[in-house]
Amino acid sequence: MALLMIAPWAPESSYGRLWASRIRERMPGIDLRHYPNELGDTAEIEAALAWMPPAGLLASLPNLKLIHSLGMGVDSLLSDPDLPDGVPVARVVDDDLIQRMSEYCLHALLHYHRDADKYDRDKAAARWDPAMAPHARERRIGVMGVGAIGRDLAAKLVALEFDVAGWSRSPKGMAGVESFHGADGLEPFLARSQYVVCLLPLTPETEGILNAKAFAAMPKGGGIVNAARGGHVVDADLIAALDGGQLAFAKLDVFRQEPLPPEHPFWAHPKIRITPHNAGITNPATAVDQILENYRRALAGEPILNTVDLSRGY
Ligand code: GLV
Repeated sequence: MALLMIAPWAPESSYGRLWASRIRERMPGIDLRHYPNELGDTAEIEAALAWMPPAGLLASLPNLKLIHSLGMGVDSLLSDPDLPDGVPVARVVDDDLIQRMSEYCLHALLHYHRDADKYDRDKAAARWDPAMAPHARERRIGVMGVGAIGRDLAAKLVALEFDVAGWSRSPKGMAGVESFHGADGLEPFLARSQYVVCLLPLTPETEGILNAKAFAAMPKGGGIVNAARGGHVVDADLIAALDGGQLAFAKLDVFRQEPLPPEHPFWAHPKIRITPHNAGITNPATAVDQILENYRRALAGEPILNTVDLSRGY
């Protein structure tokens, strides 16, 4: 009976130590193993806590009863072509992470809403040139993906009086938010949204959704914030939209290849701001209890919480 942690960070890193100490503190005596050094007898492993596991690794664990993501997203698990059949996949759904994600998006949106780049340029030129920002009511913001994070962000934007719309795969109403859904709703949603925030899960349907057609549908001079996955954006289309003036900015936390390679044109682009996939890092202090509750449930044969619908991909 063991829990295998498959993580891209080293167990002895400060983040790795934070995870292990929290898990051991909350479940004393747990057989917690780190892949690859502590794999041991694979027959003893009944749950995997994973982020970007090597393809085929999960399928090589014969008694696996639970695959738990280390974060909210599960795309790095579902992309494994050998994902074992019949093993539930669960994700973290944590208010701490939701708050961090909303905060990141709010910071980015307020930055552009208040034209912060202009005042940085003005400062560099010792120029005193105040301009009145539009009222929040005049700023139309579109939130793509109204799951746990999107709903939280939309509610916070509404509280700040922004003019907010949400787009999702299926209809999802929210007080004070104009709702759009499905393929037919995408273009009208984009057409009314000056700033578009992407918080969608990455699935075959949403891959490349922020492409030349989407940017052309948006009002000229708007911008995007992508805190979801790099695969949502067609990189060359984004650069063309920024260079051509259709879009004024992009704030990106996620990339098709991470770390973003030094030669990638996003780094040097003057209209792109970059953060290193840190919009919402899972906090072991708040996330471990729900993971261990699922581990307990898996061992007891009880229903798992926060499972993912494998046919939908989220
Ligand atoms: C982070 O990207 C997550 O999915 O939790």
